[in-house]
Amino acid sequence: MATKAVPNDLSVGEMAKRAGVAVSTLHYYEAEGLIESWRTPANHRRYDRRQLRRVAIIRVALQVGIPLREVREMLSGLPSGRAVTAADWAKAGAIWQDRLRRRIALLERLAGQMDHCIGCGCLSLENCPLYNRNDALGAEGPGARRWEEAQD
Ligand code: FES
Repeated sequence: MATKAVPNDLSVGEMAKRAGVAVSTLHYYEAEGLIESWRTPANHRRYDRRQLRRVAIIRVALQVGIPLREVREMLSGLPSGRAVTAADWAKAGAIWQDRLRRRIALLERLAGQMDHCIGCGCLSLENCPLYNRNDALGAEGPGARRWEEAQD
């Protein structure tokens, strides 16, 4: 946490209200190194308004199941102390492209399964794509083998 003067900055309450999160959430994000604040001479926490974009990305990422460590990894690629340019965002976001595509494919597969096997439970020997005769997939390792295959 630095001490500096940035025009158009926000108090912690203003930041929380605008970002749509609790003050404690901002403190948590800051403790996790995801966002930054600075202190006034009176020791009041202030946020550069540009931190709002980081909070928005964190929230969306968490909503779609991206772990906080991956969010941190991406945000750590952005510069601090100056405005983030489009090129900065593109560079930082590039590391997510493959992951997002894999996640989208997995979600589409899950959505497809929702229409088919999930909720059916028949495990038909003839028709079910999830049927695993004699647990043959168990020899490949633990967990949901077909799902984990799709994530690789
Ligand atoms: S569980 Fe019925 S088709 Fe897969």
